Amino acid sequence: MSNVPDAFISEIESIVGAAGLVTDPERMAGYLTDWRKAYRGEAALVVRPANTGEVASVVRLCNRYEVALVPQGGNTGMCGGSIPDASGTQVVLSLTRMARIREVDTANETITVEAGVILQTLQDAAQQAGRLFPLSLGAEGSCTVGGNLATNAGGTAVLRYGNMRDLTLGLEVVLPDGRIWNGLRGLRKDNTGYDLKHLFIGSEGTLGIITAAVLKLYPAVRSVTTAWVALPSAEAAVELIGLVRGLCGDRLTGFELMSRQSVEFVLRHAAGCNDPFGEAHPWYVLIELSDTQPDASLNDLLETGIGQALERGWVTDAVLAGNQAQVAALWAMREGISEAQNHEGPSLKHDISVPVSLISEFVRTTDARLLEQFPGVRIVAYGHVGDGNLHYNISKPVGSQDEAFKAQKAAITQVIYDATARFHGSISAEHGIGQAKREAAGHYKDPLELQLMRALKTTFDPKGLMNPGKLVQ
Ligand code: FAD
Ligand code: MLT
Ligand code: ZN
Repeated sequence: MSNVPDAFISEIESIVGAAGLVTDPERMAGYLTDWRKAYRGEAALVVRPANTGEVASVVRLCNRYEVALVPQGGNTGMCGGSIPDASGTQVVLSLTRMARIREVDTANETITVEAGVILQTLQDAAQQAGRLFPLSLGAEGSCTVGGNLATNAGGTAVLRYGNMRDLTLGLEVVLPDGRIWNGLRGLRKDNTGYDLKHLFIGSEGTLGIITAAVLKLYPAVRSVTTAWVALPSAEAAVELIGLVRGLCGDRLTGFELMSRQSVEFVLRHAAGCNDPFGEAHPWYVLIELSDTQPDASLNDLLETGIGQALERGWVTDAVLAGNQAQVAALWAMREGISEAQNHEGPSLKHDISVPVSLISEFVRTTDARLLEQFPGVRIVAYGHVGDGNLHYNISKPVGSQDEAFKAQKAAITQVIYDATARFHGSISAEHGIGQAKREAAGHYKDPLELQLMRALKTTFDPKGLMNPGKLVQ
């Protein structure tokens, strides 16, 4: 027995056909829980439209029946944004059948893709055209362009190319009443008023459904150097990034910081990962340089930088990858942290940012405060130093009860978010708000900003049918 009228279901089926409708509980299950298995919901049904016209018709129907919609892409989000609530009355709208590359325009350096295209497929299409699409993140094999846009995804190349917002020129969006906004413009200059695409980027499905996008392409990379570097402190990482950036400029395309605890989890749980050094070090960075020239002497450049850092005591050991397999192995250590932490019992994720200059002070003072108030918690800090973005995650103490740790969740998170606020930071650098941080955003975000966001939400979605309960209260 469904929680929506039978007539609604048969009308949906007449729009998308049997191939676009999922009502069988077993087949629906994968759409109702997230990658971390941290959130679970119920849904009246899952609808999988094949094109923009079908999305518009489904949204119009939901508006008429006042049925709430939860847009979903690859379901890899970290904040429960793509998971319906527990009522069983919401409809999950999956974009995964909309997976066409519509156009590659190498003269305009753009690619036009549908929302359900997997990020890796987009990267491959760019490569086949002799170009680079630079957004890169651990979930790239399963996350979609629509989800990347709706969360304004970041990843490991933001320090050079920017986040998804910076990579986007135009959008096609189905509005909450079913109208289609065709903003698929490939323009780098357009000063004709408010830039509406930026309202939808990062809106987490609360203002409309993104169905396609025009994205920027960049020159293909033809040489890459990757190093794994040991450091005595987080402070040394901030010194080191300044040094390497000064030496290499835009050739610095990756600078990922990892605490020893993060690396230990990977070594313990990720098959085939080995510590490149004989002894443990407190911190590590993975550095990547790249260039559009085939013989850019990047090894020499990076060795010079690391040599200078060794002399200054900012680096204690380093290895350069000697071949493609070693490059992949180093990135696997970095990208494997999230998955490895899932094997260590319940964890709390905090995706914070502070000014780069304050990272080490943030880590030093927050580590001390946490360990004093919650002895034994394991601080799993890693992230994108060039963006001031730390994944400051906490795993339960060894041997403690899951329930006891979960009971401390609010208090632990408060210590971290209060520190973030003191350091003029953000409680969500790249993962968004979803359902996980909605209350915290209500507390830590500027009240005027919240008021303006609510006003926008009401203007776009007066019936409150687009991903209710997420992002804005
Ligand atoms: P989903 O999880 O399906 O949805 C995310 C949100 O977007 C939801 O609110 C949903 O309602 C909305 N949405 C989805 N599609 C649409 C659409 N077409 N229109 C409107 N709204 C829509 N994120 C980073 O920023 N940087 C990282 O480095 C990073 N690394 C990750 C590594 C791993 C291993 C994992 C599992 C996740 C990582 N993420 C990272 C999280 C990240 O947010 C996602 O991977 C990705 O951007 C979400 O895409 P998705 O298609 O899975 O979206
Ligand atoms: C990452 O950088 O690995 C991610 O954003 C995912 C995570 O928080 O673990
Ligand atoms: Zn990240």
